[in-house]
This record gives sequence, structure tokens and C-alpha cells, in this order.
Amino acid sequence: MSVTAGAALRRATERLRAAGIEAPAREARLLLGLAMGLPDGAVPDPGAAIDVGRFEFLLARRAAREPLALIRGTQGFWTLDLKVSAATLIPRPDSETLIRAALAALPDRTAVRRVLDLGTGTGALLLAALAEYPHAWGIGVDVVPEAVVLAAENARRVALAGRAMFVVGCWAASLAGQFDLILTNPPYIESCGIGGLAPEVAAHEPRSALDGGTGGLQAYRDVIPDLPRLLTPDGVAVLELGFGQVEAVGALAAQQGLRRVALHPDYGGIARALVLGHRRS
Ligand SMILES: C[S@@+](CC[C@H](N)C(=O)[O-])C[C@H]1O[C@@H](n2cnc3c(N)ncnc32)[C@H](O)[C@@H]1O
Repeated sequence: MSVTAGAALRRATERLRAAGIEAPAREARLLLGLAMGLPDGAVPDPGAAIDVGRFEFLLARRAAREPLALIRGTQGFWTLDLKVSAATLIPRPDSETLIRAALAALPDRTAVRRVLDLGTGTGALLLAALAEYPHAWGIGVDVVPEAVVLAAENARRVALAGRAMFVVGCWAASLAGQFDLILTNPPYIESCGIGGLAPEVAAHEPRSALDGGTGGLQAYRDVIPDLPRLLTPDGVAVLELGFGQVEAVGALAAQQGLRRVALHPDYGGIARALVLGHRRS
């Protein structure tokens, strides 16, 4: 069946509105552009004839609250366009705070040589850091094998595969050596709070990327004790925090002899990136 883009858009907007999507007209336009194979952000011509079957397929997925990024298959992060999948978290703009924090703590772009990303997911943090530190190489670790495959694919996609390697592992357990920069955005949602998140997150992103256990702090308890042995003397670790976790995570770091170097707010003003280093003697 062939209908015009304008008519299809009006119906699609109503359908997405009924499904509880916040910006239904904008998303209907994006999905139609996708169905028509238009370049990102191009506005469909209202008079153009469209392939209704393909548009319907994409629309049904979004009406079921599947995230737009998963439907599109890609997500922008920092300067990079990354592939995403249901194996791990879709990179969030607020996680870019970790890259800003790293650049503020380690401003000499040529001095950073070794970068570690614990819970790498799509590889977003490691690849963004490698893009900023041209002499660095890095390792990304994730417990989900499909995430590791995805991260490696992203490294090739953004032409950084020569400086990035990805391994399946449980946090830093199997790692030796020292790193100038350690990045981690661990799962930090309290287990009981996951059901209350938006359907896009609760039903479509994996628990392995979200669930921080009781109180949301389990991953920090697992990761922080390894940081002192993994950091070079002047190195820093940048940890993403959930809302209201500054004090608790700061206390875990202090117990391991680490000092707070800085704390950076995200785009919404929430304390998001905690920078830690060795205590000065
Ligand atoms: C919140 S996501 C962050 C993904 C990515 N770093 C980002 O910022 O978009 C957390 C990641 O940690 C991984 N993860 C969970 N438990 C882990 C563990 N025990 N060891 C290593 N990675 C783990 C998950 O698979 C997921 O990819």
C-alpha cells in the first residue's frame, strides 16, 4: 500500500502519543526518515509516497517503547558514532562528563599512555578517551561477551582498533599492570528501583548494565579495592556515579587510601564524575 508521508506522519504521531512517547511528532518524523532511508535529521517531503510496511515495523517497535537508538542501531557519544545493541547500555550524554573530567585532570594530551575502561559496554568511554589522547592505547573489560564483540566492532568503526583491545572479564580481577587513566561507568541502579524506570530502560536495556545490587553500590565495592594497584603514581580513576552516591562512593575510596581529586556535575547539574588519585605523601 502507498500513502503520502504527510498522512502517515499524522497517524504515527497519534500512535506514539498514545504509547506515552514524550515528543511524538519529532520521533514520528525521525522514524519515517529512517524508513525512507533519508540522511539523519532530514525532513521527509509530506507529498512523497512511502513504503508503509517498513514504517509500520519501526513504528510498532517504538510504540512498544524500544529505545530509538536500538531501532536506529547507532548512538552518538562524544565525537563518535557508535553501534548499539541490546547486549549493553546505550551510551548516555551524561557519561560524557567522565571524558570532560579526565581531560581536566590529565590535560597533557601526549602524556596519557595507558587507559582502562571497566564495564566497557559499547566501548564508548575507552574509545572517546583514545580519540582525545593520541598516544594512548587501552583495554576495555566487560563481563558480557556480546558487549565485548560490539566494542571491538565499534573500535574498527571509529578507526581506533589499532590502539584498543577488549576482553571478557569480571572487573579488574584478571588484570595486571598500571594505567594512567581508569574509567568506569558501572551498573549503579538499586535492584528494587529498576522496575520503576522508564520502559525504554527497564524493559529494553540489560540488567547486567543497570543492576547495582542493594543500595546500588555493589560494583563500586568490587572495583575500588583494585584501583590503588592499577593506577600509575600520577594516574586518575574517573567513576560515574548515580544520583546521591557521592558520599558513599567517596567513603569506599577513602577506605582504600584514595583521595578525591575532583567532582564534576553532568549536563543536568547532578554530581556525576568522581575523580580519584593516590593520596599525596
Ligand atoms: C552502565 S553500563 C556502562 C557501559 C559503557 N561503559 C557506557 O558508559 O556506556 C555497565 C557495563 O558494565 C558491565 N558489567 C556488569 N558487571 C560487570 C562485571 N562484573 N565485570 C565487568 N563488566 C561488568 C555491563 O555488562 C555493562 O556493559
